[in-house]
Amino acid sequence: MKIHIKVLSLATIVLLSGALPQETTAQTSPLDAVNSGRERLLMDFDWRFAFGNANDPARDFDPGSSFFSYLAKAGNGSGGAATDFDDRGWRTVNLPHDWAVALPFSDHASGSHGYKALGRSFPENSVGWYRKTFSIPTSDLGKHITVEFDGVFRDSQVWVNGFYLGRESSGYTGFTYDLTDYLNYGGNNTIAVRVDASLEEGWFYEGAGIYRHVWLVKTAPLHVAKWGTFVSTAVKDNSADVTARVTVNNDAPQDADFQIEQTILDADGQVVASAELNDLSLKAGASGEFSSVLTVPNPHLWSLDSPYLHTLVTTLHRGGAVVDQYKTTFGIRTIHWDPNQGFFLNGKRVELKGTCDHQDAGGVGVAVPDALNVFRVGQLKKMGCNAIRTSHNAPTPELLDACDRLGMLVMDENREYGINPQELDELKAQILRDRNHPSVIIWSIGNEEWNIEGNEKGTRVTQTMETFAQRLDPTRPCTVAISGGWGQGSSVSIEVMGFNYFTHGNNDGYHKQFPDKPSVATEDASTFSTRGVYVEDLEHQHLTAYDTNKPAWGATAEASWSHYAALPYVAGLFQWTGFDYRGEETPFYWPAVSSQFGILDTCGFPKDNFYYYQAWWSGHPVLHVFPHWNWPGRVGQDIAVWVDSNCQEVELFLNGQSLGRKPMPGNSHLEWMVKYEPGTLLARGYQDGKEVLTDQVETTGDPAAVELIPNHPDIQADGEDVSVITVQANDAQGRSVPTANNEITFNISGPGRIIGVGNGDPASHEPDQYVESVRTTPITWRMQAVDGTENRPEAALDFDDSSWPTAFADGERREGRRGGFGEEPGRTNLYRGVFELPAATNGVTVSFVLRDLGAEQWIYLNGQPLAEDVRRDHAGHHFDLDPTLLRMGKNVTAVIATPLPGNPRGERRREREVGNPAVVRIVTSPGDWNRSLFNGLAQVIVQSTREPGEITLTASSPGLSPKVLKLETRPVTLHIVADSE
Ligand code: GAL
Repeated sequence: MKIHIKVLSLATIVLLSGALPQETTAQTSPLDAVNSGRERLLMDFDWRFAFGNANDPARDFDPGSSFFSYLAKAGNGSGGAATDFDDRGWRTVNLPHDWAVALPFSDHASGSHGYKALGRSFPENSVGWYRKTFSIPTSDLGKHITVEFDGVFRDSQVWVNGFYLGRESSGYTGFTYDLTDYLNYGGNNTIAVRVDASLEEGWFYEGAGIYRHVWLVKTAPLHVAKWGTFVSTAVKDNSADVTARVTVNNDAPQDADFQIEQTILDADGQVVASAELNDLSLKAGASGEFSSVLTVPNPHLWSLDSPYLHTLVTTLHRGGAVVDQYKTTFGIRTIHWDPNQGFFLNGKRVELKGTCDHQDAGGVGVAVPDALNVFRVGQLKKMGCNAIRTSHNAPTPELLDACDRLGMLVMDENREYGINPQELDELKAQILRDRNHPSVIIWSIGNEEWNIEGNEKGTRVTQTMETFAQRLDPTRPCTVAISGGWGQGSSVSIEVMGFNYFTHGNNDGYHKQFPDKPSVATEDASTFSTRGVYVEDLEHQHLTAYDTNKPAWGATAEASWSHYAALPYVAGLFQWTGFDYRGEETPFYWPAVSSQFGILDTCGFPKDNFYYYQAWWSGHPVLHVFPHWNWPGRVGQDIAVWVDSNCQEVELFLNGQSLGRKPMPGNSHLEWMVKYEPGTLLARGYQDGKEVLTDQVETTGDPAAVELIPNHPDIQADGEDVSVITVQANDAQGRSVPTANNEITFNISGPGRIIGVGNGDPASHEPDQYVESVRTTPITWRMQAVDGTENRPEAALDFDDSSWPTAFADGERREGRRGGFGEEPGRTNLYRGVFELPAATNGVTVSFVLRDLGAEQWIYLNGQPLAEDVRRDHAGHHFDLDPTLLRMGKNVTAVIATPLPGNPRGERRREREVGNPAVVRIVTSPGDWNRSLFNGLAQVIVQSTREPGEITLTASSPGLSPKVLKLETRPVTLHIVADSE
């Protein structure tokens, strides 16, 4: 391949010191750390988690409890923020994590958030603490090290090694802290995060916790800034000009001379263009933007059918060595918004057939694994949907990666509409983060801002935000989703008009008034339906899945699509919503907990409207007949049968008898009233008189066997990947029973875990997650020096130690009568610890977690040996206690510890930090994972651990044959943060 190199002279280099902000954008490949001086390490695993308290500092591991708070003195984070805080009684969780999913429902809770017991009325559930200890090698000294949070809901505060790093109130904005100066190089480091989800930002389920990835990023002091590239493309006849801007930070205390090499790779990794920027320099502490234009010959364009991605590799060279290498994925494509003809991609009109979507998914809430986002985008694509509106907030970055890879357009929406510094900062962070994604075609800067959308304040705020956005990204326009006052307010100054609900105004009137403004239906429909329901059941908050139910402001799928399909000047529409989501249980209230607006349910199972859209959106032949055909007790009664299809004609047959052949009206459906009799209802679709498709529903027998159908039978052994598994009940002939509601129990073994279950029932109060509960019980200690470690009578359960001095009490340590632990230096010591256990220990695992008390340790429980000659290990020692050795009430542990070597005080100083050396953890197992089928279906999401191997998932239900499913987990190279030593 011929390589076009365009070397720019210094004169053409734009150097705008400080012109671009420090935080900037790009998607580097997450698990792809190259040997380039830059490492981006995933920090998702093995966090400790516990609830704090929003009202009571004493129950909130008060981080400001020290005499001088963390705001008074650097490094003074106390309580949960202190390095030596004892978090061994906390639960271990992996990220992404949404603690709200596992909370109980409460009718006092916020309906718009799905009635989860979260928020101001539930202070004990609304603050979560996370802590993680990790090691940093000595060789990292001199590097620039940051921690990046992709999103925390919400109001987070972060400390590292007790040093306060900052606060981010937004639940949707990614943020970064510089750790460089505060780290222990060659040792352990502790990051602590307090998250307060008491307040809501939206009127839909938003979850709680660190629900997106966290990364540790190590670079040289001279490096490409975070989100530090901006790639834009101009397509010509046989080439594309790629403008590649890069922001470089010099965080060193010396000035730096350097060169930049920019290389564009095609999807096969072949170099298709490159450039060099020579003789560059940055002052100590300065940052600058540099850019060049690279020409790519005969570029493969990014499009919906061929989402072809290029990579810009930005390499910084200093003194002949590579000091940083930064990869930016981008696509070469053009977009154009036209006032009369809508939206154009690569010069071709594309009707936007979109859905609005929240980030909430069945089973997992807002903590959506990357692979589940891929699954969801895939489901929408199957429907013919070609665009997603990220209502009403900046999306998870990996959702955009999925859209880039799969070919899905994105309206990238922010959360806060307004012009205060924080609101503009949030918009800036979103644009800098997302502006290299080829999928993103427009920014939406607000939604239904009722107080000002129809007045002059709306005109002004929209203008200010738009001008602000244009400075950061002149390649895309902005829209606002406007629900009223069309022709005034925001709609006067917006670049692309966003119509929310055609019932709210007059599209044609607006178009006449502003003939030069492009427009799009940012939101419409809000059709309600419950998957698999064909008879209204208000008692259970279930609506029929026929396309008939809508709120006053909404429309049926058919009315909404037909309306906009007839308006060529509107670029298309975004239907509310692709998927059901928790909260907004319109038109019901408690006990309904989920919305029903989705074209698919919360698990991603299609409702019947899916096929309506598929017929008119996908361009593929579609034929779908419904309802199901299991109606015992209704023989001879009329049942409405609908067919969604894009065939020219459809004929319906019941048990071989034709019920008539009908022409299919455009953008519509067909209906027959059919007198029910069991058997087969068959539809035949004709094109030009020839049969091209058939679809049928059959009366099935009763459920006989459980069936599991994974979307992927093998997944990566990376602790992140998931298989999304459909659970159904089949009759004796292997046909899925659409009315089955059996309760299914799941068991899993091998290198996998279940992370969530769901069934799409919008009124279900069954748990989506089964989470263990962890608590600790206090131990009180006494100690005495002893001679030797063998056969010590003092280890006996009923030994009388009442005359022994207490140990590990703060006062005692401070007195300094003894060593750091209150022990006798240089002697073997025997420690007796007493703890109480409650009566019921069924389904409970009790463990004894110990830190080193000596060089070697002999450990007893209630007089029985637990472990002998346990050597020092800074990671500590964990023993699950044999239930037969445990007693209700008082239990006694004894630890015989030989003296630590070397200078006793120096050696002990480290362990001294630990306070109480042991905890007794009481872990109550949540029991088996269960979920009922809802109208024949449920879903279980299985995630890999980091071990390659075979997962066995068993699903069983009384009276049905069980199903055993095997899933492979494939080895993969991971770039993750090193555990603590
Ligand atoms: C819209 C709003 C959406 C959702 C929808 C329900 O007005 O923008 O967030 O609430 O109504 O119909």
